[in-house]
Order: sequence, then C-alpha cells, then structure tokens
Amino acid sequence: MSHLTESEPGAQKVTIPALQALKSRAQRIVMLTAYDYPTARLADEAGVDMILVGDSLANTALGYESTLPVTLDEMLVATRAVRRAVRRALVVADLPFGTFQAGSDDAMRAALRFVKEGGAEAVKVEGGRNRLALARQMVENGIPVMGHIGLTPQSVLQMGGYKLQGKTLAAARGIVEDALSLQDAGAFALVLEVIPSALARLVTRQLKIPTVGIGAGPGTDGQVLVISDLLGLNFGRAPKFVRQYADLRATISRAVRDFADDVRGGGYPAETESYNVSGEVAAQLERLADADDASYVLFAD
Ligand code: KIV
Repeated sequence: MSHLTESEPGAQKVTIPALQALKSRAQRIVMLTAYDYPTARLADEAGVDMILVGDSLANTALGYESTLPVTLDEMLVATRAVRRAVRRALVVADLPFGTFQAGSDDAMRAALRFVKEGGAEAVKVEGGRNRLALARQMVENGIPVMGHIGLTPQSVLQMGGYKLQGKTLAAARGIVEDALSLQDAGAFALVLEVIPSALARLVTRQLKIPTVGIGAGPGTDGQVLVISDLLGLNFGRAPKFVRQYADLRATISRAVRDFADDVRGGGYPAETESYNVSGEVAAQLERLADADDASYVLFAD
C-alpha cells in the first residue's frame, strides 16, 4: 500500500489554521489516538485530521490501571513512532502526569522534548484555569497547546473515579470559565471529556476555537475516540460513549489459536513457506537428514 504524500490529492497537511477553518465552515473534525507506527499510519491514510498520542497509552497498551504511571520517555517512544507514520494529520502529544504539575520549567522542558525529539506539532495539557500560565508560556514560546477539560483522567484520585463532570450549574459555569480562559491563554483547541451534551454545545458556541468531544454529545466541533476502544481491543468495560467499529480482540485471538493449532498439528509451515536448495547439495542434505547418525558424517575429519 502506498503511503500518502503531501503531493497526493486529499493529503494536504492539516495545520492549526486548517482546523480553525473547519470550525468556521461547520465541518466536523476527526481525531483518534494512536501509539504506534502501524495504527498511526492506517489512521492517517484513512484521513483523520488529528492524531493524539494520548497518555491513554498507559491503560491501552502498557497495561496500567490508570494514566498516572506512564512516563515522558515512554510517551516519547510512542510519539516518535507515530510521527514516522503520519504525513497528513496534525500530531498532538499528551503531557503525561508529573511533567507539568511540578512547575512550568519541567513542563516547558517536557513540551520542548515532544516537539524536538518526538516531532509533535502540539501538546495537550489537562486542566482548566489552573493551567493558564503554563498554556500562555508554551504558546508564547511557539508550542501550540490543546486544552482538555471536563473529565480529566489525570485527576482520577481527586475525582474518585471517571465520572460525568459539570452536573450542577455551578460546576457547568466553572467548565465554561475554564474553556474561555484557555482560549484567552492561546489554546488552539479544547478536548471536552464526559460532560453533558448541552454544556458541550454551550461551550462550543461560546468559543472561537474548535472543541473536540469524547463523551460530550454531538454538539462539539469534532469527536475523538481512543483507537483501542474503536477497534475492540480493550479488556475493561467500555464507557457508554464508545462505539466499537471492529472486534480486533476476537480477530487476534482467532488468528493466534489457528497458528497454534497449525504448529501443533504439523500444518505449518507448508512446503511453499519453506526454503530449499536444489541439485547435489539438496540430495546430500536429504540423505543426511534421514541418516541415523548424520553427525558422524558431518563432523568427521
Ligand atoms: O489520552 C487520551 O487518550 C485522551 C483522550 C481521551 C482525549 O486524552
């Protein structure tokens, strides 16, 4: 399969102004997570607009219970792999827990590593009004920032679980204020996670920058899903907003069982899957392979 190049039709590089233009034209933005070369390449070739190297890498690919343990170095490995695969989509890297909570110097260093070493074109930062100084500093230094408000999985300990946010009018007002302040701080887009649809629509209408929803209903400028959820390659119970478009768990299990059956039953490999030589060497090797004590012949001086 050929890899999209920027010269091919439909392969024009997605930029931040291009995302803004999608919002202005009321065209929906498509974002997906990816953590490795093959899935990022397939997602890019399928035409998604943004690929997020999410810290959901922790639960989806590394087997952690939450996103908290994943490290910057682990995220960088994934970001570089995704970057190598992507030609068209905008690549956004998620600042993992611990890289920005300890102060802006750490945060700037982490964001710079994502751009310089990982090839990310933007970073995503979880949090609202508590992240304004950080967002402003990054944007002023040339690093595009995507905000992430509502349910912020890095705050799971404080929230006591992954729960709907913005359920009271006071909480909803807080989310609107978060959104407006992040926009003022220079964020180019916002993820709205697990908030009521009406609140997401309200935020989206109040903002000039695009919103990308996950569990936030149909009224946002775009939608994002975690790729393992979409592909049916996860093990926990999926939240209700997930729509599963494939069942890779079943596909992979079946393929691995079939391989094991073939190996155990002698059905793999077949002649056509094996290498042979011809002529005298082949005849000699066949004779030796059938001999009772081939080593006597092979290693005799
Ligand atoms: O890490 C992630 O996958 C995310 C998405 C849920 C937006 O932050």
